[in-house]
Amino acid sequence: MRLKDKVILITGSGSGIGKATALLFAKEGAAVVVNDLIEEKGQETVREIRESGGQAVFVQADVTDSASVKAMTETVIGQFGRVDVLFNNAGVSGVGAIHEVDEDAWDRVIRINIRGVFLPSKHILPYMMERKQGTIINMSSCIAEIGLARRASYSATKGAVLALTKSMQVDYAPYNIRVNALLPGTILTPFVENYLRTSYDDPEQAIQSIKSRQLSGELGRPEDVAKAALFLASDESNFMMGSPLYVDGGVVFGKNA
Ligand SMILES: NC(=O)c1ccc[n+]([C@@H]2O[C@H](COP(=O)([O-])OP(=O)(O)OC[C@H]3O[C@@H](n4cnc5c(N)ncnc54)[C@H](O)[C@@H]3O)[C@@H](O)[C@H]2O)c1
Repeated sequence: MRLKDKVILITGSGSGIGKATALLFAKEGAAVVVNDLIEEKGQETVREIRESGGQAVFVQADVTDSASVKAMTETVIGQFGRVDVLFNNAGVSGVGAIHEVDEDAWDRVIRINIRGVFLPSKHILPYMMERKQGTIINMSSCIAEIGLARRASYSATKGAVLALTKSMQVDYAPYNIRVNALLPGTILTPFVENYLRTSYDDPEQAIQSIKSRQLSGELGRPEDVAKAALFLASDESNFMMGSPLYVDGGVVFGKNA
């Protein structure tokens, strides 16, 4: 029960890493607010949590839309009175080198991956500041630290999220709010399956290419990232402030170091 009685909002927790994290956090005693753009996916996460005896509610919102995020915040504050932990997890992938990416695709990735961190933080921080208590986890990626082929828009957003995390930490440390970033490597989720389909002809070649970047012979699982998120959300990481936490099978500090 490492998160007993904490109220935790996870954006994009209808799938992949967010979903695995929601399930784990509920097992650890948190009241989980599951957010997603797609209602059915979020409701499914809530159903699984409740089935295993945990506490969860679903709040539909588009993290890029201010009115939607404001309404979500008011719903959560109305129901629970506070948010102890905000996990800005929702995000999308973007494939292509600069000359290959059309402007609309570029804008979409930038909007979801950066504005989607800005808006939930903007709306929830005042409540954390008032209580002088809170933790924010921002989803970056190990791509913020290394060059990977044909990932221009995505790498730009995840580098921005890492820089933003450090800046946020400085601004909100006086309010006893911690802000840290997660930097996963390749984690097998619907997001990556889609990326593999659009980037490679042969799925086996794709898996081998990903493994060749790592020190680990295994691909990452959503649960691997969920466990790192649990550490950042819990009081066990009290002395971590503005830090990147790598969960990447040795990509950043391994062969590419
Ligand atoms: N899977 C990886 O290898 C990997 C690696 C590093 C970082 N990440 C990051 O982890 C996060 C989660 O990735 P995942 O692999 O679990 O993806 P996923 O596609 O499985 O899940 C993402 C969820 O976010 C939701 N979402 C998308 N846009 C939204 C919006 N505007 N408002 C609310 N919800 C929205 C989607 O509906 C989906 O349920 C992303 O930020 C991603 O960039 C993933």
